[in-house]
This record gives sequence, C-alpha cells and structure tokens, in this order.
Amino acid sequence: MNDPLTVLVVGGGGREHALAWKLARSERVSRVLVAPGNAGTAREPGVENVAVGAEDVDGLLALARARSLDLTVVGPEAPLVAGIADRFAEAGLRVFGPSAAAARLEGSKAFAKAFLSRHRIPTARYAECTSLDEAASHIRGHGAPIVVKADGLAAGKGVVVARSEAEALAAAGEMLSGRAFGDAGRKVVIEEFLAGEEASFICVAGGGEAVALASSQDHKAAGEGDTGPNTGGMGAYSPAPVVDAAVHERIMREVVRPTVEGLAAAGTPYTGFLYAGLMIDTAGAPRVIEFNCRLGDPEAQPILLRLRSDLLGLVEAAIDGGLSGVRPEWDERAALGVVMAAAGYPGSCGRGYPIAGLDDDAPDTKIFHAGTSIEGNRVVTSGGRVLCVCGLGKDVTEARHRAFERAGTVGWSGAWHRRDIGHRAVARERNRRRR
Ligand code: AMP
Ligand code: GLY
Repeated sequence: MNDPLTVLVVGGGGREHALAWKLARSERVSRVLVAPGNAGTAREPGVENVAVGAEDVDGLLALARARSLDLTVVGPEAPLVAGIADRFAEAGLRVFGPSAAAARLEGSKAFAKAFLSRHRIPTARYAECTSLDEAASHIRGHGAPIVVKADGLAAGKGVVVARSEAEALAAAGEMLSGRAFGDAGRKVVIEEFLAGEEASFICVAGGGEAVALASSQDHKAAGEGDTGPNTGGMGAYSPAPVVDAAVHERIMREVVRPTVEGLAAAGTPYTGFLYAGLMIDTAGAPRVIEFNCRLGDPEAQPILLRLRSDLLGLVEAAIDGGLSGVRPEWDERAALGVVMAAAGYPGSCGRGYPIAGLDDDAPDTKIFHAGTSIEGNRVVTSGGRVLCVCGLGKDVTEARHRAFERAGTVGWSGAWHRRDIGHRAVARERNRRRR
C-alpha cells in the first residue's frame, strides 16, 4: 500500500469532524479532506475543507480524481441513500459506506421492516399505510401508546410516539397529507410501542462480517427529562451500561449477524458503519427500533474519542473483507458529549453569531463542531446543532462534569444545552455508590 494516504470525509457535521479528527491521527494518513466540513475541521491539524457539497456526487468524483484520493468515508445518510458508494465503486474508487441497495435499511422504513420480519430479527409489530382510513383502523385497533412514522427520510424528526389515539390520528393525517414531511410522509408506518431503555449499537461492517464499536446512548428529545420535540440528538455517552456483556452478545447474535448475513445473501452486501437503534427490555432482550446506514451524530463524537485503535485500519479491513478476528481497543474511561444548540432549535434558528471561548483548552475534553463556519477570522454559528462538547472521565458522572465545565466556558448569543445528558447512567452510578 502506498502510504501516506489522502482520505476524504463527506459531510459537514459533528460526526464528520470526529471522523476527520480521528483519521488525521492515523500514522498512515497525511491529509484528510472534508467536503464541505465546518469551522472545526478547517482548524484541525492535517485536515482541510473543500467547498463541495455532501450531496454533489459529480463534484465529489471530480475532487477524488483531482486530488488522487486513496479512500472516501461518507458521513451522512442522504448521499448514501442516493447511491454515492455505487458511483465511487463504479469509478474504481475506494469508498466506505453502503450501496444504495444496502442503505435502504435506513432510507425506507418499510424496506427495513420487511427485511427484519423476513430474517426474524426482533422488532416492533407494524403496518404500512398509504391512506388515513387504513392508518385509523390500525390505530383504533391497537390503542395508545402507539408510534407513527414517516416512511422516507425526515432528518430524525419523522416519528411521533403518541400517548393517545387522537394524537396518533393527527400525526398520521399530517404526514399522509404531505404537509409534515412532503413526499417522505406519503406512506406511514404504524408501529407497536416498545418499552425499555434505548441504546445505539454501531458496527463496522464489510465482507459479510461486522465488528462492534463501543455502545452508546443518545438523547433525542429537545427538553430535559426526555420531553419535547425530537431532534437529531442533544448529547450522547459511551459506553451505555444497559449493554452489558450478555446483552452485547445477544445483539450480535440476534440482530447484527442476521442483518449482515441476510444482506450478503440477497446480493446486496453491506460495507460501512451499520447503526442499530435498539430498545432493550428489562430481561435484556434487544429489539430494533431503526437502522441507520452511518455513524450516529452525536454518538460518533464520544465513541471516536474513546477509540484507541487506528480507524483507517478498521475501515480498510471492512472494505477488504478482513474483519474476522479484528478487536478494536478502547479507552477504558467513559466519554460524554453535550450538544450546544442555537436558540430556536429544533425549529428554525438564526446564524452568524460569533462563538467565544473555543481556544481555551481543558484536559480530557474535546470540542467537535457541527453548525459552524468561518467569517473573516471569526468562528460563527451556521446551524441548529452548533457544537458537541465532549469530556472523558473514570465514569459517566466524571465525563459529564468535564464536558459541562468546558461547555460553560464556550458560548454565543442564545446558546443552550440540556443539563441532564447522561442522566440514566449517572443515576445508575449513584445507586451503585450507595450500595
Ligand atoms: P426513530 O427515528 O425511528 O429512531 O425514532 C425516534 C425515537 O422515537 C426513537 O429514538 C425512540 O425514542 C422513539 N421510538 C421510535 N419507535 C419506537 C417504538 N416502536 N416504541 C417506542 N419508542 C419508539
Ligand atoms: N443520534 C441519532 C442519529 O444519528 O440518528
């Protein structure tokens, strides 16, 4: 292999900053390009932004040729669902991310549900509906609580966990009319409500095999105590204590292996990060809430902060079918990332607010940027989720303390964050200390 390598990361969020930061630390990587990146990637040593959009596949192919890229790692789902990995592979370029056919696991909830049922992978019972009459009869037949989901991509916001039949009917009506999410809501999935604790279980997959990354837990609701509207994710930590060794083994056996083997057998093998969003019940049984065809955001930030192994080596092993026997090494400590958001998020937000405090470093912390850009010589906000401030500690309680302290030294007009990220793990740790 011709080291040193030039690697492209496609995307511009916090996940992509974490990917670029980690890849740039590989001894074999000389340059990481990020398209389009953000202010965080622009300021990261060994990393360079390129002004090409994450969904501009022709532009990215031209970039790959112009800069003789050795490898491309795709961050977000939209270009994957649109077939970026197929186009790169057809052009003879090395790419880490699933084909459009395999990315349907995320791109179409109906496809994912049919796949799960065909392979007897545990998940909630569901029905697909394209008319309100059909949806109403399922909702009334099951009663509340019940879950209503838009079939297409809706940036993590196309899900309503309805506490009453009326709420479910209203949500289905909004989606099916096209008012809520346009065409992404013209088909809805009505789903059984699953009780338990959620965990994100993300693997590196390729060659019909998968290797688990460290477990994590996200916080999708905007408000403290997991209330309020769904967001892209307001904070995450790793590892998730609900995924103990026995649960981990069950997830690999009951979910991950049947998924990668089923896709390979169907002639659509999966290469890339495979994310299973799981509900774990009190008996430790995992059920799939959703698949994503990418790393989680913000889960990637604490996970990659803990990864000791070379990420490039893991990705190459997956592409080359050499994952068997690979065991990534982890920092034993816990990591927690808190998302700092702009006023108005998850609704519309202003932009262009200068961010103060980014240069005051603190040990065992790392700030990954998401919605930021550079204006003149200032870093300003340019999105809803602006930063993910991460801390490492001997447990989640300490990691959270470090992350919150650092978050307290950074800010802009209207900045806010949830103050209870990690509350489940922190409560477990408190109970353990009392015992
Ligand atoms: P999704 O976009 O499918 O991940 O759903 C967003 C969030 O809605 C999940 O993270 C869960 O908190 C919740 N959710 C989705 N499906 C279910 C379900 N069947 N039962 C309970 N909660 C669910
Ligand atoms: N944090 C949830 C996701 O990336 O889908």
